[in-house]
Amino acid sequence: MSVYPITLSQTTFVHRDSLKYPFEERGLQFGDGVYEVIRIYNGQYYLLTEHVDRLFRSAEAIKMELPFSKEEITNQLIELLERNDMNNDGKVYLQATRGSAPRDHVFPKDAEANFYAYVLDLPRNMDNFRNGVGTITHEDLRWANCYIKSLNLLPNVLAKQTAKENGCYEAILHKDGVVTECSSSNIYLVKDGKIYTHPTTKQILHGCVRIRVEQFVKSLEIPFIEEAFTLNDIQTADELFLSSSTSEVLPVVSVDGKTIQDGKPGSITKQLQHEYEKDANIQGTIQHMN
Ligand code: PDD
Repeated sequence: MSVYPITLSQTTFVHRDSLKYPFEERGLQFGDGVYEVIRIYNGQYYLLTEHVDRLFRSAEAIKMELPFSKEEITNQLIELLERNDMNNDGKVYLQATRGSAPRDHVFPKDAEANFYAYVLDLPRNMDNFRNGVGTITHEDLRWANCYIKSLNLLPNVLAKQTAKENGCYEAILHKDGVVTECSSSNIYLVKDGKIYTHPTTKQILHGCVRIRVEQFVKSLEIPFIEEAFTLNDIQTADELFLSSSTSEVLPVVSVDGKTIQDGKPGSITKQLQHEYEKDANIQGTIQHMN
């Protein structure tokens, strides 16, 4: 697998082991950068345009100029898959930072953005997809600009680690009992045939899969209500599910050790999983019953 760093003036494709990364680097020292994780199915990107658009929005939000246009980076990301003979399910990780410069909080005057992207295999987790996952609840300790996909992920990392230590897949983040999202995914609650999720304010990441989930929900004529729900609402939820590029559309079957209903994926969640597989053009594995 290759890694390819891009500077303002050149693009290079190199083997990942030969990449040298400077230690006085603003991504490393300040988390001063932004990133994306893009899903690949059968060697094809899923939601590439949405990810590239969000990369540019994130960069603008931190006043960072990217060293390429949307069209250039799109073409280079496609070339990355070709050079890696990528035909499997996988993901591309990419990050752009404010560059290499002597450590100083103030933006460096002449530094060029550092950018790299690389591809990894990522087989689908069909066990999770079919049976759902357990979660914990966790205080949302992040900053006020979670809509920026910034490299600063320590609160997310710590929350997810706590989930893992409790035998769970994800941490549901809340501020004073109001659920925002999860450590690395968006979350939705189903009650009385309606779907609730946090509005796309600055408090959550505006997920690319969330864009699609909203479309699926609307096409199924299910009410999509962009209103935050609470930890109390979870107690009586009919269904709960997550979305992200790596988790897809994923049923949540327990929260803090208590099952959601009978502890099995709910029917609306399964319908949305079915829509997801159709949209991503992947093997349909979910049979849903209306
Ligand atoms: N995470 N919310 C947070 C906090 C996330 O980190 C992510 C994605 C999402 C879902 O976004 P999308 O649908 O665009 O993948 C929501 C990625 C997968 C990660 O950091 O690995």
